[in-house]
Amino acid sequence: MPAKSLPGHALSGSIAAPGDKSVSHRALILAALASGESRITGLLESADVLATARAVAALGAGVHRDGEGWRVVGTNGRFRSPDRALDLGNSGTGVRLLMGAVAGTGATADFTGDASLSSRPMARVLDPLTAMGADCTSTGGRLPVRITGGPLRPVDWSPEIASAQVKSAILLAALGAQGETIVREPAPTRDHTERMLPLFGGRVETDGLAVRLSGPQALIGTRIDVPGDPSSAAFALVAGLIVPGSAVTLTGVIANPARDGLYRVLERMGAKLTRTPGRAMAGEETVDLSVETSALRGVDLEADIAPSMIDEYPILAVAAAFAGGQSRFRGLAELRAKESDRLAGTAALLAANGVAARIEGDDLIVSGLGPAGVPGGGKVVTHGDHRLAMAGLVMGCAAREAVRIDDAAMIATSYPGFIDDMRALGAQIECENRETA
Ligand code: S3P
Repeated sequence: MPAKSLPGHALSGSIAAPGDKSVSHRALILAALASGESRITGLLESADVLATARAVAALGAGVHRDGEGWRVVGTNGRFRSPDRALDLGNSGTGVRLLMGAVAGTGATADFTGDASLSSRPMARVLDPLTAMGADCTSTGGRLPVRITGGPLRPVDWSPEIASAQVKSAILLAALGAQGETIVREPAPTRDHTERMLPLFGGRVETDGLAVRLSGPQALIGTRIDVPGDPSSAAFALVAGLIVPGSAVTLTGVIANPARDGLYRVLERMGAKLTRTPGRAMAGEETVDLSVETSALRGVDLEADIAPSMIDEYPILAVAAAFAGGQSRFRGLAELRAKESDRLAGTAALLAANGVAARIEGDDLIVSGLGPAGVPGGGKVVTHGDHRLAMAGLVMGCAAREAVRIDDAAMIATSYPGFIDDMRALGAQIECENRETA
């Protein structure tokens, strides 16, 4: 489904940030591992998360949706071996975390996914799970993967890559291992698993970059209210900064320092951004974020900020295109292993719309053209990547000419309400198969 966004419409208003994708996956998986019933409200009902919901049901959890939200009846750590492969679609988080969870329960499961997920590296998770005693077979470190779990031994693992998915997969497996597992991270990554485990009665300790979990542990069902996703909120907020005459608020956004890199960077670039603290949810602080149109300036970003905003580089690059002066984002090798090669895709998105961007080693360099200087008028090739699609549509709201994207359908993997939310703020986004706004 191709789509385009048209410039010339100031954005205003307040919208609730959609439920956080990372927290939603974890809530379903921990509830499925726990004993008894869990209630989850505010779950992100995106394609990625629904794939995880189907997978935990196939592993034996009772998964029900009613008027209040989601009810999950857990397996008390005893997943059953599904008859058919678990298809996690486009979701790296779903597949990698579930591989760890299955390894810790002693079930056998096959894992598959779409073409994008099937091309992504899985050895980063299979290696530590194998070291713990799980039987893992793969196709050259890619899907399809078969895992037969437990009984597991603990592991002291130092991943080479800063990845919350790897850390979380090991911690979930460690729930079923006998003894203390330690994950030593090369840099801090999002800690939603560590924050949520105690809500299910789990015990995990963080000491600097070392995370320790002593197994075996039995979890108990609980209530989880999912807070808003800073990675999704980022699109409307950057739109509010670059579209003239705008004032936009996103409410209930996670305020975790492991997720707020983009917001710190936007402030360094001159963004007028205010934070109003909200209530804690799922072990996370939340804030309402408000922005006004701002004159942004380019920024030179250090590599070590990348894990705290790894999914935000496409939309940050759009902000940098509208900033005065050059920006350099360092150390982005991991972007090549996302839903698409996001480093190449982001540079191409800018270039297609008249903004000079180049890749040097693992760095992205953007020549900002200032608030009124971005030509637009291009067609963005999304490679089926939801974040490139949303970044392209935001660019079109502020460029001189409309921006087209080849496919908006994949936006539903992380933010099904994106186009409706942007329209509610005043954006003009047209889809080929829908009535125009
Ligand atoms: C996620 C971690 C990140 C991020 C992904 C969600 C998570 O991946 O890109 O969208 O929920 O743990 P890595 O941890 O592999 O960088």
